[in-house]
Amino acid sequence: MPVDTVEVPVARPYPVVVGTGLDLGAVVSDVLPPGLCAVISDSTVGPLYTAQVREALTAAGWRVTGEIQVPSGEKSKSMEVYADAVGRLARMGLTRDGTVFALGGGVVGDLGGFVAGTYMRGVDLVMLPTSLLSMVDSAVGGKVGVDLPEGKNLVGAFVRPRLVAADLQWLGTLPEREISNGLAESIKMGLLSGGDYFGDLGLIPAARSGDPDALQKLVLHSIRFKARVVAEDEMEGGLRAILNYGHTIGHALEAAANYNLPHGSAVAAGMVAAATLARDRFDADLISVHENLLDAAGLPRHAPDVDVDRALAAMGKDKKRTAIDGRAAHRFVLLEDIGEPIRNVPVSEQEAREAIGAVVG
Ligand SMILES: NC(=O)c1ccc[n+]([C@@H]2O[C@H](COP(=O)([O-])OP(=O)(O)OC[C@H]3O[C@@H](n4cnc5c(N)ncnc54)[C@H](O)[C@@H]3O)[C@@H](O)[C@H]2O)c1
Ligand SMILES: [Zn+2]
Repeated sequence: MPVDTVEVPVARPYPVVVGTGLDLGAVVSDVLPPGLCAVISDSTVGPLYTAQVREALTAAGWRVTGEIQVPSGEKSKSMEVYADAVGRLARMGLTRDGTVFALGGGVVGDLGGFVAGTYMRGVDLVMLPTSLLSMVDSAVGGKVGVDLPEGKNLVGAFVRPRLVAADLQWLGTLPEREISNGLAESIKMGLLSGGDYFGDLGLIPAARSGDPDALQKLVLHSIRFKARVVAEDEMEGGLRAILNYGHTIGHALEAAANYNLPHGSAVAAGMVAAATLARDRFDADLISVHENLLDAAGLPRHAPDVDVDRALAAMGKDKKRTAIDGRAAHRFVLLEDIGEPIRNVPVSEQEAREAIGAVVG
């Protein structure tokens, strides 16, 4: 299986390396001279892969000063867990020239990235994404942070990693449900990108059954697409907002379900809702395209048992909402066609209510 490298061409470019059975020591040493480091993971990923990573790093000359394992799950993206983690780095004696390896899914990447970006005003960060979602989306692009009780991702920063290394072998232990969740982001990007990526969404069934070629293709398409978007608009002043496709309603559904709805399922329903808005707005007939892709990925088309009013209220709190002409309105990313996203489409409260209504219950 070939190892592929995609460069993210931002001010300080960084490589994203993808392969099966990566020689991690060599991949890391290509980018950073060995030194002092710490590994952050979670209670599921840590016992599975920390020893292997530690061994590879040690063999390449790194000194692993400590390991931090946070409880697995979104609840670890909190100020409390963050404060505990930076405190532990200080007690371990990680120095300013040290490196933090974030080994895990999007939760560990977001939390560990924020830790790395703020501990001693920033130490080097290496992302080692282990979930499909983190490989196709969250590990690339530099957005890191934690949640507040008031809402998701409300505290954070842009922190460029020095390297992202994704070993597809790690996906072997990922539960099926989480493969589907990762595929939701992949579908999102394939729809936004169009072209070859959209065509290769036909590989979804093979990817679900663990076919390494199919997984590598989808992961690479995603990384290339995200790298292009991030290169053009790293700080989300404009274009990068297209990556929120399906997320405006998706986040609202998650919040209204008290985060008991998996992110991928929420985004799946959010994309269907966006497709219904696009039908009414642009006469774009994309609902069945969405539904077929979600079916193939084992994702739901609807989010049952979510209250429309609660979801609307949560959308009001979404930090991505901006006022238009002084009037509060929602802004959506909608698809005029496959590969043709339109940003900042104003959507009224009533239209948003109908779109949510179409995908709940
Ligand atoms: N920073 C960004 O740009 C960005 C983009 C998208 C999502 N996110 C964030 O990512 C998070 C979701 O990421 P996620 O879906 O990876 O969640 P996650 O990190 O909670 O991982 C999902 C579950 O899979 C487990 N897991 C991960 N890798 C595994 C493996 N190889 N084997 C077995 N189990 C494994 C985890 O322990 C967890 O239980 C959310 O907090 C979301 O806000 C961030
Ligand atoms: Zn997402």
